[in-house]
Amino acid sequence: MDLLNNIHEIGIVPVVVLKSVDETRKIIGALEEGDVPVAEICFRTDCAKECIELASKEFKNVIVGAGTVINKEQCEEAIKAGAKFIVSPGLSESVAEVCKANNIPYLPGVVTPTEIMKAIELGIEVVKFFPAGVFGGLKAINALGAAFPKIKFMPTGGVDNSNLKEFVLNKKIYACGGSWLTKGEKEDIVKACKEARKIIKENR
Ligand code: 3PG
Repeated sequence: MDLLNNIHEIGIVPVVVLKSVDETRKIIGALEEGDVPVAEICFRTDCAKECIELASKEFKNVIVGAGTVINKEQCEEAIKAGAKFIVSPGLSESVAEVCKANNIPYLPGVVTPTEIMKAIELGIEVVKFFPAGVFGGLKAINALGAAFPKIKFMPTGGVDNSNLKEFVLNKKIYACGGSWLTKGEKEDIVKACKEARKIIKENR
């Protein structure tokens, strides 16, 4: 799918938790300015749907997706609001079904071989490995990747610019997710994004 390729090219997926609709322009604008035109807007705040709607409308060059989608209803809301991809902390078959019906990529969270087997049964080839730092990081990804050679991983949780390089160098890594790119003021976000993109370009 083109969209999945485009996200892979960018190489990082910022986990975005927005406290208000107003904050959307600042954060998504900073990501775009920092050459990271992709955002996983999380369903952890009540305004998530409105934020996705606004970001999709006003930032046409940014790939806007939804994160922390934990049930079918949220998934439907997110897609209706304009989300172009869906991420979950775990694997939900009902979310996978909604995504499939709408032809939207679904990146479920996994950490075990059983969960990866379930993802494969659902036709999924890219999974979120979450929380990566807690569940063995690259060591675990290499071991799991050996058993599932077609699967690509998006480690999230414990990734930042200090360890991004080691992930980027690994061929099993599809992209890295995390909240480190959205912390602080606009200029901090732009700076962190530019630094991350540099690490990706230099090490792939
Ligand atoms: C997530 O929900 O994906 C994680 O909270 C991101 O983890 P991080 O804050 O360590 O990047």
